[in-house]
Amino acid sequence: MKREKIIVIDFGGQYNQLVARRVRECNVYCEIYSYRTDLQKIREMNPKGIILTGGPNSCYEEGAATCDKELFELGIPVLGLCYGAQLMTQVLGGKVSKAPVREYGKIEVTVDPTCKLFSDVPEKTICWMSHNDYIETIAPGFTRVAWTDHCPVAAALNSEKNLYLIQFHPEVLHTVEGTRMISNFVYHVCNCAGDWKMDAFVENSVQALREKVGGGRVLCALSGGVDSSVAAVLLSKAVGDQLTCVFVDHGLLRKNEGDEVEAVFGPEGNYDLNFIRVNAQERFYQKLAGVSEPERKRKIIGEEFIRVFEEEAKKIGAVDFLVQGTIYPDVVESGLGGESAVIKSHHNVGGLPDYVDFKEIIEPLRDLFKDEVRKVGLELGIPGNLVYRQPFPGPGLGIRIIGEVTAEKVRIVQDADAIYREEIAKAGLDKEINQYFAALTNMRSVGVMGDERTYDYAVALRAVKTIDFMTAEAAEIPYDVLTRVMNRIINEVRGVNRVLYDVSSKPPGTIEFE
Ligand code: XMP
Repeated sequence: MKREKIIVIDFGGQYNQLVARRVRECNVYCEIYSYRTDLQKIREMNPKGIILTGGPNSCYEEGAATCDKELFELGIPVLGLCYGAQLMTQVLGGKVSKAPVREYGKIEVTVDPTCKLFSDVPEKTICWMSHNDYIETIAPGFTRVAWTDHCPVAAALNSEKNLYLIQFHPEVLHTVEGTRMISNFVYHVCNCAGDWKMDAFVENSVQALREKVGGGRVLCALSGGVDSSVAAVLLSKAVGDQLTCVFVDHGLLRKNEGDEVEAVFGPEGNYDLNFIRVNAQERFYQKLAGVSEPERKRKIIGEEFIRVFEEEAKKIGAVDFLVQGTIYPDVVESGLGGESAVIKSHHNVGGLPDYVDFKEIIEPLRDLFKDEVRKVGLELGIPGNLVYRQPFPGPGLGIRIIGEVTAEKVRIVQDADAIYREEIAKAGLDKEINQYFAALTNMRSVGVMGDERTYDYAVALRAVKTIDFMTAEAAEIPYDVLTRVMNRIINEVRGVNRVLYDVSSKPPGTIEFE
């Protein structure tokens, strides 16, 4: 089936994935491409519309990212945002220069409500501005349709050619009517039908996977995380027990997590697939004995994981397909999508394909953002607690225990973490905080319990607010909640006599406590 799509042309700004997400929230499929992408390729994709993103440069600087004038002659509607707006102006004969007043933050903008972009938007509306340059003179054929006290051109259009530009950032939630503006562009300017819906995605994917796999055998490494769970269920719907899922329990999962994964995917669960749980706890603990350096621990866990998976795969024999839970941000961030170079090297266990006898990789979630993966999960009937699971590192509690990992320390951190998560949820904070967990410091100190002197561990609590997990701030948890958690951990978890709250932000800290 041919999907209608909008293309985002990436000039390296920080909100580029957000632009694509907002378009998709309007039920229109959207992909990100670098500004270096060949014009012919764009023409062949035949998009319903094109959005040019922000970027870090000034468009009049030597060597700044640019675009072909012909991009505006394709007869396809174009919307330029921030840098994209300035570039469009410059390329089409207007003038961009350094702004006399730099605008940053939430600013009141006056819009012309008769413009299609601002349909149903109040005349005065708060928008997110972030620019040093401004459009001094609009390009010939353009009309100004929005302005602020310091920015004479906050939006403009050439209605004959369907070219629109916006100086602010509608993709950022601080722009109160931003989603409406993007929706106006895709529906009223590009005339999209809005066929990107997750129920249809499920239906089409199941169909496509069935055709692709035929009578073949499929193998999937299931971690219990959102991506691999959703990928597994999609395949199970498509090919039933031609799918085998291997779940390696490395003994470094959260409390009861192994059993929870088994309850959902195992023989008593809801899905038609072959589920193999490998209880490899002891093997991992043995390999980790005496090791305290964090990178070494990560390496040992990663390697051992591959070894265990490989042994299982050998027992199963050759398969036709190996499933991977790659999602769209992985594609973009590994440099295949937009302009945003390799931002982070991928944490996840790499190298699996080399060790397993298979013909082809299947990545059923490759086009989806995380929030879309979650919607697909709900659509497939996967339990909410699994779908909304917090990020959890592949090496698991192995890196949340400072120093040597032992079965005893795993028990302590599992119990403390379970209490912490329970109390955060009870206080209704679980939706506000993006990631929170307990870690076990390697510090023991003197305390008193009853009349006894103790010499026990300190547990560290971590909770952060973050948008992209690249930077983060410690969450301000109410003191009474912290006190309750502290009381319960000290009373209920043997071996702990102190509870500390980590207030560090990232940077200089990291989100994990390793
Ligand atoms: P840091 O600690 O680097 O973590 O601030 C950023 C985010 O990445 C998660 N993280 C991992 N995720 N495998 C993963 O899948 C890993 O090895 C790994 N290490 C860290 C971390 O939980 C946080 O969300």
